[in-house]
Amino acid sequence: MSAKEPPLANALAHLGRGPAVAGRAINLPIEQSSTLLFDRLAEFEAAREDRYSQGTLYYGRYGNQASFALERMMAALEGGHGCVSVSAGLPAVTLALMAAAKAGSHVLVADNVYLPTRGFCDTVLARYGAEIEYFDPMIGAGLATLMRPETSAVMFEAPGSGTFEVPDIPAIARVARDGGAVSILDGTWATPVFCRPLQLGVDVVVHSGSKYIGGHADAMIGFIVCNEATYELMRRMVLAFGDRAGSQDVFLALRGLRTLELRMKQVQEAGLTVARWLGAQPQVRKLLHPAFADCPGHEHWRRDFGGAAGLFGVLFRPCSDAQLHAFVDALAMFSVGVSWGGFESLVLPVAPLRTATPWSEAGRLVRFSIGHEDPDSLIADIAQALPQLG
Ligand SMILES: Cc1ncc(COP(=O)(O)O)c(C=O)c1O
Repeated sequence: MSAKEPPLANALAHLGRGPAVAGRAINLPIEQSSTLLFDRLAEFEAAREDRYSQGTLYYGRYGNQASFALERMMAALEGGHGCVSVSAGLPAVTLALMAAAKAGSHVLVADNVYLPTRGFCDTVLARYGAEIEYFDPMIGAGLATLMRPETSAVMFEAPGSGTFEVPDIPAIARVARDGGAVSILDGTWATPVFCRPLQLGVDVVVHSGSKYIGGHADAMIGFIVCNEATYELMRRMVLAFGDRAGSQDVFLALRGLRTLELRMKQVQEAGLTVARWLGAQPQVRKLLHPAFADCPGHEHWRRDFGGAAGLFGVLFRPCSDAQLHAFVDALAMFSVGVSWGGFESLVLPVAPLRTATPWSEAGRLVRFSIGHEDPDSLIADIAQALPQLG
């Protein structure tokens, strides 16, 4: 947060609460009401008239006191104008793209985005008449050469899913803005604790709150955090679409945010400890971790981020499928699972899909999500499994 704003630790402890809502209770309740009642017809009509405004209590799908408090908190943490909460991270991505694109428009997408983001672009957006073009995530200001008058959105991630390149966020955001396109950044990895993309010129930052923000592998929630120019567009799209964050998940996200900074610092340290050790093992060809000097875009990470999450990739030397399976199955402290950012360590082999920039690295790419276990125990577990790779 900037010098004028309160320290992040204070914001995480104090935002998102409201005496008018919760009375004496420190936490907002789980608001389980679809119907909201009005004593007088005129009050109802006023709410209906104003239903698109954040904070207007009209009907459960439009939000409730707790979801509005969470949205205001997320907007404040990102230094944004407003936030719209949705049912998961993927709808945060897809609805932001739906809002920014239209038939006949050109959408630029970084080649290393989360695979379902790619799937949505190639199937749904393309079917509705948008032209999708993938770009090298390290293109920086060179993105200008791909911009067209009809380019309406630039979608990217920092760092990229699976391969962890860190793009030049301000350069890409500037090109998008100069060309009249909405820039959308998936900032799930860093959370507002380690990066605030709106402050770097991005228009919209999307988050899967199912990861670090929830932090306990239970909530499914997403956020679209916007600058002033894009907020109305995004909120109206989400409301028109009819998506919303569930009340239980709103509660879990508010609870998760209270400890987010502590957990991010812990996974940063534990992740670095495990990654450093892995980098020295003979079976390892390369680490894909933004905090390491040989990671593409490491200089951008140093400039624009305040830390590193506990999710990184390891490129192991080439081995057979049977050896890879034997290694993963021999790990006792790492479960196999697609999500990340929870309390438990996870492992997942990944195969990057590229169309603009071929992925030509030899070897097997494995993603590690470091949780809150003792890092030395995690290292000992990997050490006993590594011989399976030959
Ligand atoms: C970078 C990134 N963005 C978005 C998502 C989607 O989030 P959710 O699972 O909450 O839909 C994921 C999930 O793995 C992700 O890794």
